[in-house]
Amino acid sequence: MKPATNELSDEVLALGLEQYALELNNDGITTVPPQVTGVSSELIDRCTEVLLNRFTEMTGGCPITLAEGPTGKLKWPENHTSVLRDENAPPEPTQMLIQQLLQLDRCFRDLAVNPVVDALIDHLMGPVSSIHPVAGKARRLSSTNSFVKWQGDYGYGKHLGLHCDQAASPLPWAKASITANATWCLTHYSKKDGALAYVPGSNKLLAMPTQPEAAEQAVAAEAPRGSVIIFAGSTWHGAFPKLTPGLRLNAVCYYRHVAALPQENMKITMRDQPWEDCDNPELMGELIGFKDKFPYEVQSETVPMFSKAS
Ligand SMILES: [Fe+2]
Repeated sequence: MKPATNELSDEVLALGLEQYALELNNDGITTVPPQVTGVSSELIDRCTEVLLNRFTEMTGGCPITLAEGPTGKLKWPENHTSVLRDENAPPEPTQMLIQQLLQLDRCFRDLAVNPVVDALIDHLMGPVSSIHPVAGKARRLSSTNSFVKWQGDYGYGKHLGLHCDQAASPLPWAKASITANATWCLTHYSKKDGALAYVPGSNKLLAMPTQPEAAEQAVAAEAPRGSVIIFAGSTWHGAFPKLTPGLRLNAVCYYRHVAALPQENMKITMRDQPWEDCDNPELMGELIGFKDKFPYEVQSETVPMFSKAS
């Protein structure tokens, strides 16, 4: 039987990815250059073009370029809330999330099936037991998003927003990742340009970050355009503020372990059924998950809108 994680799979060995798999074990993160993933500059250019066009469409017409970022005034709508809000200060719009990339263009679908990334995500999550009805590989896509980030702090604050993505999973965590992240860099990633922040080796602690130590130990994931940064759900990570003009742009494939799949997708199958005609409709709604933020079916994060008046 194949190991749950840490040992090297046939795919990792066949693709010559030992170095990256071992970095994932030791540091909880690795950066793979385009020469290894085989992703072309044309594909990265296409992803960039689609996202810039989509940004303008979603914001109601705000122009945007890689070099300058948004060139119009943007305002959050009245109902805006952000989990990234630091202390009491609601952040100015200097970042927005474009969700559901797989629907936008084939370029994102091609990124999602990149065999090198797939082998490394599989390395983090390991296989499912052969006696389980969904035996096989454990990794499934959870979402595909782009963080469009421009000059500013965006409320991450002095603790850099450090967190573990698999924080919702009860402790103690196993070594196999419950979630994992592949961040495709569509612009050069450097600390001053607002790169991903992470704490090397924090994945081995299998625990949430403690501050201020975490922020003090955080380093930047610096990488050339076209690289992909892969990290485990237990790795402490956040982001540095973007101190420079222009955009930091990415395309993120986010993964989750198949173990927590519902057997029936009741959020959909019960939506038009008589779920309220029971002794406790409130409890029934909670059990089905109607009020859960996830899984969403449409863009769920707030979009700042172009304010032509300013
Ligand atoms: Fe995260």
